[in-house]
Amino acid sequence: MCGIIGAVGTRDVVPILLDGLRGLEYRGYDSAGLAVIDSTQRPVRERTRGKVTSLVEKLNARPLCGTTGIAHTRWATHGAPSERNAHPHVCGAKVAIAHNGIIENYETLRRELLATGAMLESETDSEVIAHLIAREIDADRSLLDSVAQACHRLEGAFAIEVASPKVPDALIVVRVGSPLVVGIGDGEAFVASALDALLDLTDQFVVLEEGDIAEVRCDGLRIFSLASPKREIKREVLKVEGKRHLKDKGEFDTFMHKEIHEQPEAAVRALESRISGTRVLQPVFGVAAERVLSRVRSVHIVAAGSSYHCGLIAKYWIEDVAGLPCQVEVASEFRYRKAVVLPGSLFVAISQSGETADTLAALRISRRLGFVASLAICNVPTSTLVRESNMTYLMQAGPEFSVASTKAISCSLVGLLLLTLLLGRSRGHSPDAEAEVVEALHSLDDDIREALALEPQIETLAAQLIHRNHALFLGRGPQYPVALEAALKLKEISYIHAEGYPAGELKHGPLALIDESMPVIVIAPKDDLIEKLASNVREVEARGGELIVFAGQDTSFAARSDMHVLPMPRVHELLAPIIYNVPLQLLAYHVARCKGTDIDQPRNLAKAVTVE
Ligand code: G6P
Repeated sequence: MCGIIGAVGTRDVVPILLDGLRGLEYRGYDSAGLAVIDSTQRPVRERTRGKVTSLVEKLNARPLCGTTGIAHTRWATHGAPSERNAHPHVCGAKVAIAHNGIIENYETLRRELLATGAMLESETDSEVIAHLIAREIDADRSLLDSVAQACHRLEGAFAIEVASPKVPDALIVVRVGSPLVVGIGDGEAFVASALDALLDLTDQFVVLEEGDIAEVRCDGLRIFSLASPKREIKREVLKVEGKRHLKDKGEFDTFMHKEIHEQPEAAVRALESRISGTRVLQPVFGVAAERVLSRVRSVHIVAAGSSYHCGLIAKYWIEDVAGLPCQVEVASEFRYRKAVVLPGSLFVAISQSGETADTLAALRISRRLGFVASLAICNVPTSTLVRESNMTYLMQAGPEFSVASTKAISCSLVGLLLLTLLLGRSRGHSPDAEAEVVEALHSLDDDIREALALEPQIETLAAQLIHRNHALFLGRGPQYPVALEAALKLKEISYIHAEGYPAGELKHGPLALIDESMPVIVIAPKDDLIEKLASNVREVEARGGELIVFAGQDTSFAARSDMHVLPMPRVHELLAPIIYNVPLQLLAYHVARCKGTDIDQPRNLAKAVTVE
């Protein structure tokens, strides 16, 4: 993954680069660095293991200054998170580069460079890029040509920014498979992995397209095709106004806690202008939606992480309510297999960031497979996923900074439920069924608030879980993916191993794990499966497992010494997955808080996974 930022102007760019890195840290945070061309026309750099704050401390002790510079925040793929492997990478005083992506043929290139006497210092795949460019500079090519020639040797995905004393007042940048945006300021210019990082600097943007190589100067931008670097390309300048989202935790100690509590308002925004009294408004998915949805005979959902779990919940809805076949799979699997696409199939990609590499690759592959259309369920309007899909549902969750997704899940589930209702309508379902769900959606925010009110009890229970090494989450029907999501949350932020299971599968293996040291968390809304679930709970009870039951109204679970019962609000059956997910987020959060882990930035993870 990683985030890159660059700037060229007439003022010192170091503060701009540091500020930009803070805005990109969600893409990786195990090491950081920057390089500027200094007053002696040499690339000078500072790098550190750890987060941007460590880089700031180092720069306070040894300041750098320059009007052209590049910077990077890393999520290690090749080589440990260390200062030596941190970007920018340099080749002597000739060139400094920062790279986001993966160079798949780096071992071949590395061997070739070492054989010709290159001194490679890091274990990264990226360092070869600096050496390949330097080699071309030595052959007396222009900087732009040198970068283009070097890129022709690279296989994989990369966004690269290059600073060199050869052209001290310009940056050369390339986009192949990883996002890159240029911001055009007043007498200065910027580049970044994501537009949002530049919003405080300018409102004029050029989103580079696949295969673009650009020369970025303070007084202009020239874009060429990497395939033929003599051919200049014109790209549209977008005006995007707004401020970079303030990274403000407000009264909360972490973004995750704040974002969990923002869910009632986020749900209201996700529904805003999308439902009326008893109906879903047709243009929810864009003007073309009515025509497209009437042709849909099946749905194929692709996503990663928590977004994938949203897709699994939607499968229950789409098949049960709309009566259409629905497949769901993780993007990293879909992209490398020969998927059989049913006639009239709609491709749905779910992604909070809209930049997850596997999900984007899946979307691009889907275009060749005969889908009716593609629909992006996404939280970032300027993301690649939104730009490349036929139809969009914007989650309106607001910026999500915590690596573990919370409010985006609720909002994408809202979008998927609206999709289900529209698909049902296009198949001639009764407006009464739609009206019943829409009426329930009007009080979704209150239902979420009621679930959040369980926090004091959850906090007490969480304190008892911190010494456990494992936990099991059980659900049936659409609550099974809720169990999967709850297990993911607990493991990613508290580092306790957890698994989600369909409760009916218990006796096919996991029951063997049950004893008094195994907490079993049960998701038990009042629905058609509640009696079946109650039997599964008894199976755990009989083996001495400690039970925590999130129980719907009118269910028969009674608190005992070995069974904690958390009474959940009375909710419409279809809304249960959205609402039951909320206290489970709180459970993971409080366990992690008691354990003292880094909740917003768990070890080894990143918010936007822009490499495969
Ligand atoms: C990472 C994040 C998860 C997220 C997943 C998919 O693993 O830590 O919270 O669910 O990526 O991200 P997306 O932006 O595509 O929803």
